[in-house]
Amino acid sequence: MKNPVRILSGIQPSGILHIGNYFGMMRPAIALQEEGEALYFIADYHALTSLRDPIALRENSRRVALDFLACGLNPDKAALFLQSEVPQVTELAWILSTVTPVSRLELAHSYKDKVARGAAAAAGLFIYPVLMAADILIYDSDIVPVGKDQKQHIEITRDIAARINETFGSAGKAVLKLPEPRIQAQTEVVPGIDGQKMSKSYGNTIDIFGDEKETRKRVMSIVTDSTPVEAPKNPDVSTIVQLYALVASKDEVEKMREQFRKGGRGYGDFKKQLFEKLWDYFAPMRKRRDEILRDKNYINDVLGRGAGRANGIAHEVMKRVRGAVGL
Ligand code: AMP
Ligand code: TRP
Repeated sequence: MKNPVRILSGIQPSGILHIGNYFGMMRPAIALQEEGEALYFIADYHALTSLRDPIALRENSRRVALDFLACGLNPDKAALFLQSEVPQVTELAWILSTVTPVSRLELAHSYKDKVARGAAAAAGLFIYPVLMAADILIYDSDIVPVGKDQKQHIEITRDIAARINETFGSAGKAVLKLPEPRIQAQTEVVPGIDGQKMSKSYGNTIDIFGDEKETRKRVMSIVTDSTPVEAPKNPDVSTIVQLYALVASKDEVEKMREQFRKGGRGYGDFKKQLFEKLWDYFAPMRKRRDEILRDKNYINDVLGRGAGRANGIAHEVMKRVRGAVGL
């Protein structure tokens, strides 16, 4: 029998999850759990590159697990676990680093952006993509669902895997499997309330599980131009329309676009409409979240089972890698 495709992705517990995370990565990942063997993890080793508060790290990690489950991750189908529960990834990252050119890492946008925004240029931040490559390669992953900002990291992963195979593979026998990114065209970049990419580091997020008052406030502060109420507006450049399209039906979006073009309604009205849809969209997830919170052991059980599955696979792949490189 053919092996099922293996799907893998990770998310950093460096803050509160926002709707950019949801539409860019979580929703596609949740949909893919039906299509193969899915493994999703909370990248707590990676979060150490930006978060140095042990209590916050532990709390955020649990909260990401809770939110991911509330959004529809089914732990009977997909394994959910903490990255640090599979410490062999750090061993694999070391082995991978020995074939990774520094020049390749110097080209990584994510490192350059973070340092440009004031992050300390720590060695760990620089080799972040190598640890990410290890995360992916240690499970023989086929598909990696991520937002567009992670595309370069997957390219680096493929490059590193190819180098390992060239250096240590024997005729026709690869040591590591090359993964494919899976990026959804319509949600590759979800805009934030200022129109830039939604990101916790830009302070422009709408959180998935923010309370009603805060969520309304965030939606109402979406930045718009100063076109007067009566005048026609351009729906093609509007953050409101872009976010509305994520949660409304095709007909509803077309209707809003028409009202933009016609003029006579102000941005405030459209923002209210967006808020209502958004709030309704996440209502079932809020309900599920409350249920999970009532079951004290649920999250620990899920994470424990997930780590067990992940360790089983990682152990086999590491045996192969250690054998291939001579350890
Ligand atoms: P991060 O918060 O950087 O750990 O991102 C977690 C996942 O969410 C990654 O797959 C990102 O590509 C995705 N993501 C984060 N922000 C956005 C956004 N504004 N639009 C689309 N995807 C996003
Ligand atoms: N770097 C990813 C992000 O910030 C998180 C991540 C770590 C990841 N390891 C991964 C994503 C492996 C996919 C696969 O979003």
